[in-house]
Amino acid sequence: MARRKKIYEGKAKILYEGPEPGTIVQYFKDDATAFNAQKKDVIEGKGVLNNRLSEFFMTGLANIGVPTHFIRRLNMREQLVRSCEIIPLEIIVRNTAAGSMSKRLGIEEGTQLPRPIVEYCLKNDELGDPLVSEEHIAAFGWASQQDMDDIVHLALRVNDFLSGVMLAVGIKLVDFKIEVGRVYEGDFQRLIVADEISPDSCRLWDIETGKHLDKDVFRRDLGSLTDAYTEVAQRLGVMPRSN
Ligand code: C5P
Repeated sequence: MARRKKIYEGKAKILYEGPEPGTIVQYFKDDATAFNAQKKDVIEGKGVLNNRLSEFFMTGLANIGVPTHFIRRLNMREQLVRSCEIIPLEIIVRNTAAGSMSKRLGIEEGTQLPRPIVEYCLKNDELGDPLVSEEHIAAFGWASQQDMDDIVHLALRVNDFLSGVMLAVGIKLVDFKIEVGRVYEGDFQRLIVADEISPDSCRLWDIETGKHLDKDVFRRDLGSLTDAYTEVAQRLGVMPRSN
């Protein structure tokens, strides 16, 4: 295959120019990072699992009418996606207190929240992706009011979909992060779900045991990350069970 032009290399993925205008090839690496890349490792097979899982979630979202950047999976590690202008925000939805929210607000991990809470972080590695308010977003022009309305709508629809899919296989969706991008269609523009949806960007707890099936396994040294992600993929029927 002809060598592709690299557009961007991030912590877990590489983006290459796609075969047609307006497309990008998204390559999933095995690299795992946490705490703004202060902790790093290579987890064999993680990229393959996340490629499959992100395909599964993005396809499911498209089926219920939530627009995403996903076009098709190309191979074990690559998928073809629509190119878009990424809004410089990480959009986090929380159903249960955990992670940075628990730390910041002193709410015990596992506390059910009264309703889903949407938070925004500025995508900026140097600053460690700081939490920002809608006031910051409006004042600094990172997104318009219309964008913010669309972002909340998208985020809550993703939350409903993912929560349901996970619940069906005995997993609690504690929280997750999405990124959204802008695409132009004639005179119109709209926002679509971009980047990836995978156990790297969600907190997933087994409903019965509370076992972590997400990147916290790596962040907190709780065992094998590949085993955790494989468990999620098998429960969802994305990967066959080996026994
Ligand atoms: O660390 P924190 O509790 O704020 O993370 C909330 C959710 O967002 C978690 O599911 C985490 O995996 C995800 N996240 C992410 N990428 C980041 C920060 C958080 O996927 N840079």
